Amino acid sequence: MKTLVIGSGGREHALAIALANDPAVSEVHAAPGNPGIGAVATLHRVDPLDGEAVAELAVRLGADLVVVGPEAPLVAGVADAVTARGIACFGPSLEAARLEGSKSFAKDVMAAAGVPTAGARVCTTPDEVAAALDAFGAPYVVKADGLAAGKGVVVTADRDEALEHAAGCGQVVVEEFLDGPEVSLFAVCDGATAHPLQPAQDFKRIFDGGRGPNTGGMGSYSPLPWAPADLAATVVDTVVQPTLDEMVRRGAPFRGCLYVGLALTVTGPRVIEFNCRFGDPDIQPVLALLDSGLGELLLAAAQGRLHEAPAPRFRPGAAVSVVLASAGYPETSSSGDVIDGLERLDGRRDVDVIHAGTARADDGLVTAGGRVLSVRAVGADVAEARQRAYDALAEISFPGAQWRTDIAAEPLGVVEGAGVTE
Ligand code: AMP
Ligand code: GLY
Repeated sequence: MKTLVIGSGGREHALAIALANDPAVSEVHAAPGNPGIGAVATLHRVDPLDGEAVAELAVRLGADLVVVGPEAPLVAGVADAVTARGIACFGPSLEAARLEGSKSFAKDVMAAAGVPTAGARVCTTPDEVAAALDAFGAPYVVKADGLAAGKGVVVTADRDEALEHAAGCGQVVVEEFLDGPEVSLFAVCDGATAHPLQPAQDFKRIFDGGRGPNTGGMGSYSPLPWAPADLAATVVDTVVQPTLDEMVRRGAPFRGCLYVGLALTVTGPRVIEFNCRFGDPDIQPVLALLDSGLGELLLAAAQGRLHEAPAPRFRPGAAVSVVLASAGYPETSSSGDVIDGLERLDGRRDVDVIHAGTARADDGLVTAGGRVLSVRAVGADVAEARQRAYDALAEISFPGAQWRTDIAAEPLGVVEGAGVTE
């Protein structure tokens, strides 16, 4: 099977590695990719938002399967352009990607499907926002309605900060605060049915102890030793399947990864958000432990025959990813800082480096984005994987590097600083 991965981040690097490890996959191509992806895939230049260009490349390569990584191309209809050429594409149509592209659409689907989630109000004026904040009370949760790369959400005890965030966003969703540890559950879907992957947890705030602003994610681990063993099955029953059924009713079957961000509240798992793609870095440890073929699984989903595919299997043990971000992240990022030490990890067992914002320059590998890379390690349990990841991270440096020191630390599962900015 020839595969083509669209995107250039850590998620796409982790996907490319897992595809390359699948004996059913003969070729891995990626576009536009990054220097890390280039080590496991053949890179091609293409604008990932240009559906026709992506479809053209897939045809030229004779690709059997295109995997669209990020949300922006999906929301732009890239999967539609690829499937229009008769090529299997893992990633939802433009219509189905609205589950991520519009928070108000997602809320509407959840309400119709009876999916447990936070109470919410869609607001367009400052008066509506103020009334909704007062109705739900503190901590306040305000979300920009469109795509915001994980940064459109403010959770705060400060009413003025909540109002200010809303004022800069246009239409917003004001929500009830969900109290409980957060979990990422990825469901591979073919429109009608789903196979869940092993749950993961990511760490969203920039600073240790869950302080500071939200980021795209500063680290992750899987599995979750503290979570109920039947969590994935429960979430498929109460969230994923009803959502897939509702999307079919709306004429927009969801084929791709439904990423369910959950809070495990005292009344059970409730949805914080849907995304229409794998999450990064949360998917990294999950894929490190995958013990069955990723290519075959995603192809079966893309072709609408997931019921024929065996459920994914996972190795025992655990995996941890720790993100290194560049100076200024998440407000800004710094490019061109020389990254030192990766060669010292060559050949190290149980550790690999996942590239996100890296680039090749005359003076070697340099930073080229906010989240630069992750150090990913596997071990017999979370503690061992964590130790290996941090030992390896100590070998890497670049000017202004930021990382959290408490990824996957004890006590596992607690709510990050109750999710409130200081
Ligand atoms: P989102 O982009 O919707 O995932 O929100 C980003 C982060 O904000 C989440 O991972 C949570 O940590 C936090 N958050 C979002 N919505 C809520 C909510 N209703 N209750 C508590 N925390 C939330
Ligand atoms: N880890 C959060 C995200 O991918 O949106």
